[in-house]
Amino acid sequence: MRRKLAAGNWKMNGTPAELAELTALTQTHDTPTVNVLICPPSTLIAQAANTVADHKVAIGGQDCHANTKGAHTGDISADMLAAAGATYVITGHSERRTDHGETDAQIAAKSQAAYDAKLTAVICIGETLGEREDGTTLTVLDTQLAGSIPDTATAANTVIAYEPVWAIGTGKVPTLDQIAEVHAHIRTRLTARFSDGDQFSVLYGGSVKGSNAADIFAVPDVDGALVGGASLKAADFSPIITALENA
Ligand code: PGA
Repeated sequence: MRRKLAAGNWKMNGTPAELAELTALTQTHDTPTVNVLICPPSTLIAQAANTVADHKVAIGGQDCHANTKGAHTGDISADMLAAAGATYVITGHSERRTDHGETDAQIAAKSQAAYDAKLTAVICIGETLGEREDGTTLTVLDTQLAGSIPDTATAANTVIAYEPVWAIGTGKVPTLDQIAEVHAHIRTRLTARFSDGDQFSVLYGGSVKGSNAADIFAVPDVDGALVGGASLKAADFSPIITALENA
């Protein structure tokens, strides 16, 4: 059984006041039948972990450094995230790849650091609009899959998130056929490379909301979603969790 995961990425949003949304989420989904994850900014991880302590909601970081400690001003290690109460960390989000020029090799090193800290890495891949239009989507994803996922990845320590860059925060969503094609392709690559490749959860991400979640979750090989904008308010994220529970 692959893990079903509804993951929220708050990005650079949230102060302690917004933890009220997390409290509201735990009240609405006291005993979710799927995995629920919120990745707040790192300044809120410890408080968020306290907020969900008695509930089945996991807390994750949005990035980590590949090293455990050292002279890296402004960076945060996977060990630090774990010590603050995180059990997951997102690696290789397209905004990290773009804003910070992260390479596949760096993302693999960060993901390995996550495993070493006993965190589950949510490794993100996705094509740009230009790549989609050029017809190179699957080739681009192959490069990212090969380069960003460490050889030590297992279904237990890794979740893959397919996020077309052009669908993130834009309200544009690929057709269900396009999502199906990519997820089937990712599954083929995972099973070819990893002995438990059929057990890796593969999320879709990019403009998921309550109104499209059920259709997306009905696509074969979609095991959940990585959600940005619609994860900030409990009222918006809740229908996505429910849709996954009903999928
Ligand atoms: P979005 O972001 O749901 O706001 O499109 C998704 C993501 O970047 O993970």
